[in-house]
Amino acid sequence: MKRWLGALIGIGFLALLWWHRPAGQEVPKQAAIREPSEDVVRCRVCHASQSEEFLTTGHALALRLAHDPEVLSRFAGKTVSVGQPAVSFRFWEESGTLWNANEKSGVKTQVHWMFGSGHHGMTPVVVAKNRYGEDEGPDLHVSWYRPHGLALTMGHEPVLTADPDSLGSLNNASDTKQCFKCHTTELTRKGRGIETANLLPGVLCSKCHANAKEHAEKMHGGETASSSFDDWKSLSPIQSVDRCGECHRSPTAFKPEQIQPENRALTRFASVGLPLSRCFQFQKTRQLSDGTARRLDCLTCHDPHRPMTTDPQHYNNVCRDCHSRPDSQDSDCPKQIITSDCVGCHMPKVRMNAPVSFTDHWIRVRSASENAASAEPTSATPTAPK
Ligand code: HEC
Ligand code: HEC
Ligand code: HEC
Ligand code: HEC
Ligand code: HEC
Ligand code: HEC
Ligand code: HEC
Repeated sequence: MKRWLGALIGIGFLALLWWHRPAGQEVPKQAAIREPSEDVVRCRVCHASQSEEFLTTGHALALRLAHDPEVLSRFAGKTVSVGQPAVSFRFWEESGTLWNANEKSGVKTQVHWMFGSGHHGMTPVVVAKNRYGEDEGPDLHVSWYRPHGLALTMGHEPVLTADPDSLGSLNNASDTKQCFKCHTTELTRKGRGIETANLLPGVLCSKCHANAKEHAEKMHGGETASSSFDDWKSLSPIQSVDRCGECHRSPTAFKPEQIQPENRALTRFASVGLPLSRCFQFQKTRQLSDGTARRLDCLTCHDPHRPMTTDPQHYNNVCRDCHSRPDSQDSDCPKQIITSDCVGCHMPKVRMNAPVSFTDHWIRVRSASENAASAEPTSATPTAPK
């Protein structure tokens, strides 16, 4: 009798397990998207030096599917408590897809997209069709930051009391489209939504070099002159900065009263800060030995074809070009000699309201209190007006 009952309970338990089997068995993987390498192979034959390291840059990895193995390794199997009062969020892998649950409310979702390369951070984004067939969805409350790991997403309110049951902060369809526009190279529409299968993720060669595809075809066809081909080199410093600023933001995206040294949230937007610097505004006054003006724009310090260097000497050498004194260890700095760490004092890293810092590109003399403040999390929300 006991054994019979035992068997029945056993069968019941198995049935219950079957009933509660992970719903994920039925969940299809996120539709495939195109590979960033697709764009690079078009150019690699003729431009090996620009192409060889490109696929490891933040630009190339700016958007991925959430089931990318590197992404899964950072999220799956991890639980973290964030906000006040603390709410616990859990990530797990189910049939090769990434899931997230709010352990307080039990609300859960499959994660579709991962924004950000992880060089600084990555934020999971969920996208679903709204009733008009447009794509929209939240970016989740929990992101991954280097080297810290999982934490409350930058810009999200630490006080989750307004909606402690939620998984993230909803972006409407227009904001969602904007996210994809800056983090992709090709984005086409299907009806009112995004055509996922045709999406080319990341900021790739042909995003920065308009008409690059046509150029590649012509060059393959044996042409030698690419006269109609877009040329960054003909741009003035401010035009060039504004081109990068199409994504890194330009001062026109802010109200004048927001453009203040006290607004530490500005630090996130390099192309807003740099043009405010006297170095940038008076760059023409510094000349090379042949009498031509020195040039200061993003490309003076960053090569968009290679991973960003974190060696301060690379950047300090740029300062030295303009601020050294002939035959002397002195510099234009009344405080420090020419071999000192210029960027450490004049371009410090500023802590955001997440465990991540950005470099202040507004090169200037900073007060001691300003420097001390840089190490503290800023309460200002580092988002730009849409
Ligand atoms: C079959 C060889 C070939 C291929 C493929 C090719 N290019 Fe070029 N490209 C050249 C040559 C040769 C030049 C320099 C001659 C010129 O400027 O007319 C050039 C010049 C350029 C320049 C500089 C333009 C300027 O005005 O200074 C850029 C930028 C460029 N290519 C980007 C690309 C990108 C991006 C791709 C891939 C989508 C690509 N190229 C594919 C041969 C090629
Ligand atoms: C189409 C949008 C877009 C344009 C145009 C663009 N960027 Fe970016 N950039 C991004 C995004 C998105 C990231 C974040 C990538 C990540 O998550 O690491 C980024 C990251 C960077 C980084 C940090 C890379 C790292 O590995 O940490 C540098 C430096 C940078 N951009 C410089 C530039 C410069 C210089 C230009 C102009 C020549 C430029 N960007 C143009 C979108 C853009
Ligand atoms: C105007 C262009 C633009 C839009 C719109 C945009 N991004 Fe970005 N994104 C960037 C640039 C540039 C960077 C690199 C510098 C930075 O962090 O601002 C970046 C970086 C990131 C990063 C890496 C972490 C970091 O801060 O460096 C994440 C994650 C991210 N964006 C997510 C999003 C999400 C989610 C949306 C939509 C809600 C979005 N972005 C909308 C341009 C954009
Ligand atoms: C974030 C924007 C960006 C991306 C992405 C990008 N480039 Fe460029 N590229 C530039 C800029 C800006 C210049 C001008 C450099 C200068 O004036 O010093 C340039 C210059 C070039 C040149 C001219 C030679 C030179 O170095 O001045 C070639 C060729 C080129 N890029 C090819 C490529 C290829 C191939 C890829 C993809 C593997 C690529 N670019 C990706 C921004 C970009
Ligand atoms: C292209 C040349 C150039 C480069 C590169 C350059 N500067 Fe300057 N910098 C200038 C000029 C010109 C001024 C204005 C001098 C004046 O006010 O007479 C200036 C001013 C400054 C000031 C004073 C700013 C203020 O608001 O009072 C500081 C600090 C400074 N530079 C630091 C740096 C550092 C640090 C670097 C490297 C990260 C750098 N500069 C790179 C040209 C340059
Ligand atoms: C005078 C040199 C200099 C110039 C010019 C410059 N940067 Fe930077 N940039 C830096 C330094 C230094 C870092 C920090 C590198 C590190 O992490 O060690 C940095 C980092 C970045 C990052 C990574 C996130 C961060 O803030 O740490 C982005 C994005 C970026 N720069 C974009 C730009 C853009 C866009 C421009 C043009 C408007 C630009 N930079 C011009 C020196 C420069
Ligand atoms: C330890 C921090 C520190 C370092 C490192 C440093 N500076 Fe300064 N710098 C300052 C301070 C503080 C001032 C303001 C001095 C004053 O007004 O008396 C200043 C002022 C300046 C000025 C403005 C001078 C003027 O006439 O108004 C320039 C230009 C400058 N620094 C350039 C540099 C360069 C280039 C380097 C690297 C070789 C450098 N600094 C390294 C702290 C530093």
